[in-house]
Amino acid sequence: MRLLVLGATGQTGQLLVRQALDHGHMVKAIVRTPSKLTIQHDNLKVVKANVFSANSLLEHFSEEDAIMSCLGFPISIFSEATGYTESIKAIAPAMREAKVTRIIAMTSWYTKPDTAQEASWTIRWLLIPLIRKLLINMQEMENYLNNECQDLKWTVVRPPGLQNASKTEKQILTHEGYFVPGPEGIPIGNSVTRGDVARFMLSLVEEDLWIKKAVAMTTK
Ligand SMILES: NC(=O)c1ccc[n+]([C@@H]2O[C@H](COP(=O)([O-])OP(=O)(O)OC[C@H]3O[C@@H](n4cnc5c(N)ncnc54)[C@H](OP(=O)(O)O)[C@@H]3O)[C@@H](O)[C@H]2O)c1
Repeated sequence: MRLLVLGATGQTGQLLVRQALDHGHMVKAIVRTPSKLTIQHDNLKVVKANVFSANSLLEHFSEEDAIMSCLGFPISIFSEATGYTESIKAIAPAMREAKVTRIIAMTSWYTKPDTAQEASWTIRWLLIPLIRKLLINMQEMENYLNNECQDLKWTVVRPPGLQNASKTEKQILTHEGYFVPGPEGIPIGNSVTRGDVARFMLSLVEEDLWIKKAVAMTTK
């Protein structure tokens, strides 16, 4: 397949690029600083573009089979987070113009407020308040995909906390919701390796799974 990765210089993005190449795909990485992507491969093309501009993205989208976004944005105490919505509002029109229909976008567990009631005290009272602005904007992007992009084959991937480690052989667990619950409704674990998130994202495009769904994932 021809896969275009956004956020390819990020910690998950680089693992996704590597796994996609290992699976024999043609990969195009859209980045803002090409020197940050250290992977070199005959099937990898690295291009510089602005993820907030449909015009800038358009020329790179044509003939791609899927867009895979590992974009992440910093939190500012002075302003609301807007990176997820501003980027998707450029990506979706560029996809339509380029006739690309498939997109996988990464958000997080607990993007909807009040879905973390069964999470640990630390997650509810320390982590979520700290990243609330990002979770709100992630949810706005999820809503945009659901409300404005029914013509596209989107999948939102919601992982728990990310560990900077490669993929494992562990079983991937999924749930159409804001976290993956165990039998008692309590979240199963609270972290996953970035390599396993990349593994899951790749399986979605290869097997055409979870179309127009937001899916929480973890491993066990
Ligand atoms: N940390 C966690 O525990 C956790 C848990 C669940 C979900 N998530 C979410 O999962 C996603 C991936 O996380 P990660 O830790 O792998 O991400 P990361 O390492 O922070 O990488 C973020 C990527 O987004 C790019 N980016 C940021 N701002 C940009 C801009 N203005 N224009 C273009 N590109 C921009 C970065 O490019 P540069 O290299 O040029 O900066 C980088 O490639 C994020 O959305 C994150 O919020 C994180």
